[in-house]
Amino acid sequence: MKILLLGKNGQVGWELQRALSPLGTLTALGSDSTDHCGDFTRPQDLTDSVRQLRPDVIVNAAAWTAVDKAESESEPAHQINATAVAMLAKEAHQLGALLVHYSTDYVFPGEGDRPWQESDATGPQNVYGASKLAGEQAIQRYCAKHLIFRTSWVYASRGNNFAKTMLRLAAEREELSIINDQFGAPTGADLIADCTAHAIRTVQHRAEAAGLYHLVASGTTTWFDYARFVFDEARASGIRLTLKNLHAVPTSSYPTPARRPLNSRLATDKFCTTFGLTLPDWQQGVRRMLQELNDTQILR
Ligand SMILES: NC(=O)c1ccc[n+]([C@@H]2O[C@H](COP(=O)([O-])OP(=O)(O)OC[C@H]3O[C@@H](n4cnc5c(N)ncnc54)[C@H](OP(=O)(O)O)[C@@H]3O)[C@@H](O)[C@H]2O)c1
Repeated sequence: MKILLLGKNGQVGWELQRALSPLGTLTALGSDSTDHCGDFTRPQDLTDSVRQLRPDVIVNAAAWTAVDKAESESEPAHQINATAVAMLAKEAHQLGALLVHYSTDYVFPGEGDRPWQESDATGPQNVYGASKLAGEQAIQRYCAKHLIFRTSWVYASRGNNFAKTMLRLAAEREELSIINDQFGAPTGADLIADCTAHAIRTVQHRAEAAGLYHLVASGTTTWFDYARFVFDEARASGIRLTLKNLHAVPTSSYPTPARRPLNSRLATDKFCTTFGLTLPDWQQGVRRMLQELNDTQILR
């Protein structure tokens, strides 16, 4: 099986390089690759890469993920998250390839407290969410053989994410205010990558398993409780923090360019049932990431 991975250097892309390699022959491209083009702002060159490589599976981990910046730079966000994705979907369909793609909880409007099902009506509140939804819809329109995984609050020991930002700030400041009215599940890039590899294998043998899924770790938390967990774990493993007081604040007291949904809970029953997998509690993976950061001395 020939696999083309795009966005190899992101949080999820990096873990996919590991998780996909036992499945077949892997070609992994980033935006700056020189052997073949992996740059989503160069659609014709990207198309040529796909045509030359003729993969059986295309896994797209590339995305514009700067949520606030997308509000003022909607054009490149849409190009990377929707226009280039539509092109990939058409190419995958032409080749008969499986297209694997990632989307987000931000496609939902965020009201209520019920976990969103795959079949629930979407209603993105910001440009990033709208661009990701447009990418999903293009894949559904042009390439029936697809796996789309909506995930949330992604972290990894490599790359930038909330947990690492919080640890940096907690080592510099004595006071921090964190939002406590947005609910979701921190999800490890390693979990996403491992589940992706399993799902690809499943679809190879059972084509009807293709489709749209919610893929997040189990349990729910807020950014405030997530941060508190990170600080408690960090202290317990001997990391010195200057932080003395942590304040819980509502979203309304922390205005950002992009509006964010309060309810980012995603129901994963469809994913677990279809693929016969169990998704671990979010704390398990966060604890592991912190251990990895500690072991590699990144925080010392
Ligand atoms: N991060 C989250 O909290 C979160 C939440 C929900 C859903 N998701 C979705 O999960 C997926 C993976 O996210 P992630 O956290 O791994 O993202 P990430 O760490 O920000 O990585 C994104 C990757 O996209 C690449 N990229 C950006 N512009 C590109 C371009 N013009 N051409 C080619 N590649 C380009 C970047 O490559 P370079 O570094 O080489 O530019 C980077 O490797 C995305 O679809 C994202 O929308 C993420």
